Amino acid sequence: MIEHPVKVARVGEIAPGKGVAVPPEVSGHPTPIALFHTEDGFRAVDDTCTHLGASLAKGGAVGGEVACWLHNGKFCLDTGEATLYPARASLTTFPVEVRGDEVWLLPTTGD
Ligand code: FES
Repeated sequence: MIEHPVKVARVGEIAPGKGVAVPPEVSGHPTPIALFHTEDGFRAVDDTCTHLGASLAKGGAVGGEVACWLHNGKFCLDTGEATLYPARASLTTFPVEVRGDEVWLLPTTGD
């Protein structure tokens, strides 16, 4: 759970289609969060793949989805829904806001 807005990146630091892992000590969330620069802006989801735990931030964001680099399971970056086997369980999503050239994660109401 994120309790306060937190700046996690500058817009230019994440190339389109790429992601970065935001560690717990930055976000305040107990597990890493993957932040992606998509065609429709920035999206944030759990970094830990629900299949076997790979870091999703190492995968690419294409067409609103992230493909896990380990077994190619896919997730929707808007809803967190698993969209391609072997991914089956959904990811938590996190609200993101761009303020000028800064990318912020916003507070969540619960996990
Ligand atoms: S660890 Fe992500 S699809 Fe297997």
